[in-house]
Amino acid sequence: MNVLDFSNLKLAICADYGEVSRVSAGYVLGAVKDKANAVLGLATGSTPVGMYKEIVFAYKNGGADFSKVTTFNLDEYFPIKNTDSQSYIYFMKENLFGGINIDMENVNIPNGEAADAEVECLWYEEKIKAAGGIDLQVLGIGLNGHIGFNEPSPYFEAKTHYVSLDESTIKANSRFFESEDLVPRHALSMGVGTIMAAKKILLIVTGEAKAEILKETILGKITPEVPASVLQLHQNVTIVADRDAAKYFL
Ligand code: F6R
Repeated sequence: MNVLDFSNLKLAICADYGEVSRVSAGYVLGAVKDKANAVLGLATGSTPVGMYKEIVFAYKNGGADFSKVTTFNLDEYFPIKNTDSQSYIYFMKENLFGGINIDMENVNIPNGEAADAEVECLWYEEKIKAAGGIDLQVLGIGLNGHIGFNEPSPYFEAKTHYVSLDESTIKANSRFFESEDLVPRHALSMGVGTIMAAKKILLIVTGEAKAEILKETILGKITPEVPASVLQLHQNVTIVADRDAAKYFL
């Protein structure tokens, strides 16, 4: 692994997806070791699946204790039933929560079944504040530069909010559904301000398709049209990427 240092932002370049997963898992496990009651911000999507497998593996081998950990996921489709196999709460139970000793009382995901989206968003922000803020936020990145479901836009949304998903996101996420028509058009997502308030950020990026957007994120102009570019303004960001995604930095 080779680490490039852009002062506030570090780019760790790994050989392949396996190494990305191990390095990212090590980072999350380290946060929980340092602080037993750590507050973790978590992401769904394909990229962190390997990292979650590594975390579950470490837990099963006595390498971690999540009993005091609190989690906040970035986003959830809206509306969606919690039991729907496409919901993010379902994904998280399948990929992580079912395999570790987390207290489900300490798990937070925007509620896709909430009666009122706006009230749910305000409530979600309150819960993050009451937990003392997020210690480590895990992020993936969309091909369009989105973080959470903060889609390219003329302005940054600060707080957790109701989002209309971009056509490109609907297309990208259709790989999980039988047809594109079935992809939900809306979601609830942490805002850019919510994400930026995390003490540390871990962004995981893999695959050549994301090479261009990773370059824009690190070296491009800071603009809401590339939401991830705002990470240049955060004080403690680690990006873990494979060689394909980091090809412009080799
Ligand atoms: C997921 C999320 C999204 C994904 C992004 C990348 O909770 O908020 O921003 O991180 O769409 O998804 P994958 O990893 O599937 O390419």
